[in-house]
Amino acid sequence: MVCLGNICRSPLAHGILESKLSNDHFFVDSAGTASYHIGEKPDHRSITVAKSKGIDISKQKARQFIEADFDRFDIIYAMDKSNYDNILSLAQNEEDKRKVRLILNENPSITNKAVPDPYWGNMSDFEYVFEILDETCEIIAKKLLI
Ligand code: 4NP
Repeated sequence: MVCLGNICRSPLAHGILESKLSNDHFFVDSAGTASYHIGEKPDHRSITVAKSKGIDISKQKARQFIEADFDRFDIIYAMDKSNYDNILSLAQNEEDKRKVRLILNENPSITNKAVPDPYWGNMSDFEYVFEILDETCEIIAKKLLI
C-alpha cells in the first residue's frame, strides 16, 4: 500500500487489508513515495479512526518505497495517480510495472479513482478515507481468498 507520506492513507490501507487476511498466508506492508516522514508513526487522526473500528495501526513506522520492494511484493497498490506514476518511475522491467495498480480500480462503485489526501483536512476526511479503503479492501481480500 503506497501513498505520498506513508502517515495518512497507506497506513490505513495496510491495517485494514491486514485485518481481513491471515498472517500465515499474506504479508501486507505500506510505504510512501516521499521521504518526509520516515520513522514516524501514522498521523494521530488515522490512528484514531482505525482504533474506532477495532484496528491498531499505532505500531506502524513510515518508510519510503524503494526499488527492492518490486522483488518483495506481488501486488503494489497506489492510493492516487501521482503515487502510481512515482512508483512506476522506479520500475526496472515489465514484470515490475505489471505489479502496480491504482487501488480504487478494484472498486467498481467508486468513480473518482483517487483516494483523497486527508492530510490538510479534518476527521470527516479521515473517516471517508477509512470507509472507501474498507470497502475496497473487502473486495481485494475476497479476490485473494478465492
Ligand atoms: P499521505 O498524506 O500521503 O496519505 O500519508 C500526506 C502526508 C504528509 C504530507 C502529504 C500527504 N506532507 O506533505 O507532509
